[in-house]
Amino acid sequence: MSTEKSLFGSYNGTDVNKYTIKNCRGMSFSVIEYGATLTNIFAPDKNGKFVDVLVGFDDLDGFVERSDYQGMTVGPYANRIGGAKFSIDGREYNLTANEKGVTSLHSNGELSHKVWKYDSSGENYVSFTTDRRDGVGGYPGNMNFTVKFTLTDDNKIKIEYRAVSDKKTYINLTNHSYFNLSGFAGGSILDTKIKIDADYFTPVDEFSIPKGKLKEVEGKAFDFREFHKIGERIENDCRQLKNTHGYDHNFCINNYDGSLRKCAEAVDEKSGIKLEVFTTLPGVQFYTGNFLNGTIGKDGKPMKKRTGFCFETQYYPDTPNNPSFPSCLFDAGQEYTSETCYLFSAE
Ligand code: GLA
Repeated sequence: MSTEKSLFGSYNGTDVNKYTIKNCRGMSFSVIEYGATLTNIFAPDKNGKFVDVLVGFDDLDGFVERSDYQGMTVGPYANRIGGAKFSIDGREYNLTANEKGVTSLHSNGELSHKVWKYDSSGENYVSFTTDRRDGVGGYPGNMNFTVKFTLTDDNKIKIEYRAVSDKKTYINLTNHSYFNLSGFAGGSILDTKIKIDADYFTPVDEFSIPKGKLKEVEGKAFDFREFHKIGERIENDCRQLKNTHGYDHNFCINNYDGSLRKCAEAVDEKSGIKLEVFTTLPGVQFYTGNFLNGTIGKDGKPMKKRTGFCFETQYYPDTPNNPSFPSCLFDAGQEYTSETCYLFSAE
């Protein structure tokens, strides 16, 4: 095990450091202080060669100026809030409507597009912390956040989140990594096989907002209870897929009880790399990089549509306006905690 620190860049005069953690089997990941962002994950393929399975950038400018949240820690509310407003105890809060002038998406990049502070590190982990002020973007609560990234010897990256607010508020944090299990140069993700442990998903309207109802995956392009290639049904003539130009939906993880459960997996036959995702959270947004539009990323290569996929573990989108969804409303002083793991193997 080893942890190495290096300078990644500078943002408005603040140094942004990169931390690389390597385990005894040679697997490693890197994370930077800007956005508490995972920049690289070198996982072993079926021949024992290490492949960087994260789509993203080589330089800070990419993350600052051109990013679609690649690898970033997103909050205080990841995903969307319908009409960019919600109420708590009868008081309405109006948020920045950064998507189509109507919805609030990823809290307008509030946590993902800033430099976090180094908190602590050891031979197999590093953690970062940041604060936010009450009322920024209309969102209530002075809050403090910590995110800790650990690498285990069995090739698991564990991400642990903590947050606390001085006002009753909603908290929903995620990691927005885009994976390509053949490596970034691997091209399309359509042949990657995935599995999601969900009998239900949350269908969305034209603004990608769910309306309280859960829909059964049974018989639909959303049934990933057994392995299917991402591309197998992605072009199906179905309103849900057309609305979002591919998969961009929250799946309701079966038997959610707050304990750490496996919610999703992905296998790439070319590289043999397998990713298993575990989380304590109730939902996972499966997103197929529908809005990637050729922005230049690592090695000067374009990140085209469907060259990366995300499993964003989370509370359901627009939970504040859907009282039937598992609640993510936290009292003043009540701690939010969650854990998500990415386990890598090769077959
Ligand atoms: C999330 C959303 C997508 C898209 C990406 C960022 O995954 O669900 O619709 O906005 O973030 O581009």
